[in-house]
Amino acid sequence: MPKAKVNICVLVSGGGTNLQALIDAQNGGIIKSGQIKLVISNKSDAYALVRAQNAGIATAVVSKKELGQQGMEDKISSLIKQNGIDLIVLAGFMCILTSDFTREYDHRIINIHPSLIPSFCGEGYYGLRVHEAALAKGVKVTGATVHFVNEIPDGGEIIMQKAVTIPDGSTAESLQKRVMKLAEWRILPLACEKVSQKILKEEI
Ligand code: GAR
Repeated sequence: MPKAKVNICVLVSGGGTNLQALIDAQNGGIIKSGQIKLVISNKSDAYALVRAQNAGIATAVVSKKELGQQGMEDKISSLIKQNGIDLIVLAGFMCILTSDFTREYDHRIINIHPSLIPSFCGEGYYGLRVHEAALAKGVKVTGATVHFVNEIPDGGEIIMQKAVTIPDGSTAESLQKRVMKLAEWRILPLACEKVSQKILKEEI
């Protein structure tokens, strides 16, 4: 019998506002082809874990600090298998995954990045740093991108993008909030649904 829904695991490191957008989209019917089964954080004090618990979603902490890169990836892999996960969503997950891991889950990992790739992306560009770099360059438009994850940091196939104008007088903090609200929290759920549909139809 074909699968009814794609099982989703969300990987987080921090506040988890993108995770919250996914939970809200699931409750609101925007995500209907997938279901969040598990949230994994590399930080035990990530507020994202509280958001998951409040929504009744199972959580796990997999610390790179304690386990090292290989140990962390092995643990994530075994949790993915144990829980029958079909799609991994990186929502503010601040660890880079090795090519061994990304190859094993080809077209099964997506990431949200807070710029219009190929601008301000790749190693070293994460969180506020992305917005600081956009402001330092003086660009007038930025945005967010959801893409498949491959061995090149922020280099995988682009799934969805949304542009956001940069008002005069923006700070990195104000720009981060604006990009989250106007772009990230909108396109991540939409991309999740789009990819889940493709997995169900066995198109990817
Ligand atoms: C988001 O802006 C996300 O795009 C970014 O970190 C923030 C996490 O916020 N991710 C990256 O920079 C990855 N390179 P959140 O925990 O509130 O979702």
